[in-house]
Amino acid sequence: MTQGPLTTEAGAPVADNQNSETAGVGGPVLVQDQLLLEKLAHFNRERIPERVVHARGAGAYGTFKVTADVTKYTRAKFLSEVGKETEVFLRFSTVAGNLGAADAVRDPRGFAVKFYTEEGNYDLVGNNTPVFFIRDAIKFPDFIHTQKRDPYTGSQEADNVFDFWGLSPESTHQVTWLFGDRGIPASYRHMDGFGSHTYQWNNEAGEVFWVKYHFKTDQGIKNLTAEEAEILAGKDPDSHQRDLREAIERGEYPSWTVYVQIMPAAEAATYRFNPFDLTKVWPHADYPLIEFGKLELNRNPENIFAEVEQSIFSPAHFVPGIGPSPDKMLQGRLFAYGDAHRYRVGINADHLPVNRPHATEARTHSRDGYLYDGRHKGAKNYEPNSFGGPFQTDRPLWQGVPLTGVTGESVTPVHAEDNDFVQAGNLYRLMSEDEKERLVKNLANAISGVTRDDIAERAINNFRQADEDFGKRLEAAVQALRG
Ligand code: HEM
Repeated sequence: MTQGPLTTEAGAPVADNQNSETAGVGGPVLVQDQLLLEKLAHFNRERIPERVVHARGAGAYGTFKVTADVTKYTRAKFLSEVGKETEVFLRFSTVAGNLGAADAVRDPRGFAVKFYTEEGNYDLVGNNTPVFFIRDAIKFPDFIHTQKRDPYTGSQEADNVFDFWGLSPESTHQVTWLFGDRGIPASYRHMDGFGSHTYQWNNEAGEVFWVKYHFKTDQGIKNLTAEEAEILAGKDPDSHQRDLREAIERGEYPSWTVYVQIMPAAEAATYRFNPFDLTKVWPHADYPLIEFGKLELNRNPENIFAEVEQSIFSPAHFVPGIGPSPDKMLQGRLFAYGDAHRYRVGINADHLPVNRPHATEARTHSRDGYLYDGRHKGAKNYEPNSFGGPFQTDRPLWQGVPLTGVTGESVTPVHAEDNDFVQAGNLYRLMSEDEKERLVKNLANAISGVTRDDIAERAINNFRQADEDFGKRLEAAVQALRG
């Protein structure tokens, strides 16, 4: 803002910003006091709907740099050369809490990256967990209802949380992860990020590869215990947000080394796990991590509302050489985000500075609507046109996948080693004795808040099926707490 007198929204100088205009001294206020009316009216409209999930978050700009040649696998231009740099914006978040909730809570963390590439913005909207609680988008609204406030009590209820998880055994892997040591990161800088879903890469020759992204923190993993988090959440609800901003202000730029697991398309049908099931990881022994990039955050946003609250990320924002997989969760997300943005920020959300392409220009024939800024000037608004307007390329961003069968509400296909418990059990058995103890304690504390025995028993039974010892210890710990 330039220096000078305070003005109204229309730019007229303001004489008095302390006293409203009245009919005589001590009389009623006049409608002609435009400044008063304008201030009260604008204030009433300062909020936009918060994100229905991931409402609480913090963001920063930075750079993604290619460190290894992956052109064999993808034709994405921003990945075309070792050393190439692309601007990014990353928004971290928690999931269940509202906009004003505390940061230091047991909850997955969002890890949403926008790559401002020369072929358009590529959004990778991931989490700090490699897996998720469910494997079909149709269950997502129900799942989130159990994480949010109960319609009667107005609080999050252990009954709802463990009722849903107990009745959705596919959640066992992610819940084991969440109640383990990594369930409460010490800060956004000290955690990994994952694309979580399987995505498609395709190369110049049109060959398809299925990939999973991993962002490994260069700061090292640091977590909080349940007890530490309880204190910090009360003392400093903004702990994650402040930590990120202050580190960047100090010039301590957080960074992540970026890896990809790559599965040639032909291997998907016979792989021992369904590679499109978001409740499973691909063990590194099967598909090793291939390092290909470095992501660094080095610039704070100047205005949190404009750049963080109004930022939009969509798993449907792909660029040539990258596309979706048939993962049923991902397919649902391809719809959900754009719809949320149109509701939450408006039809011209993608014109805002943080959301628009930075390394190219959006050339569309979509026009007008609320807060349209006239960017297209007098250009024709239809296609095809013979006035030199933008044209289609005839080359899809991703390759089609071969399919057979009939339409219908189908269960996600099960591969040779798929069941809902195998990877949760493997995760438990990988833990040290101390880690197991903390996991059982954290889970038992949460389950002990359940009021109905059948809900608690069903939830415990899922962990028993993952690992006999896990179930036994949990049952004993819950019994001790419930008396
Ligand atoms: C079918 C399942 C899912 C649905 C329907 C869904 C839906 C949504 C919606 C509506 C939002 C708010 C968007 C906005 O207002 O801008 C959101 C935010 C978000 N979701 Fe999901 N989600 C799903 C699963 C997932 C999964 C599996 C992940 C991670 C792997 C994820 C990561 C995120 C992140 C990081 C954000 C915050 C983005 C930001 O910072 O603006 N979601 N989700």
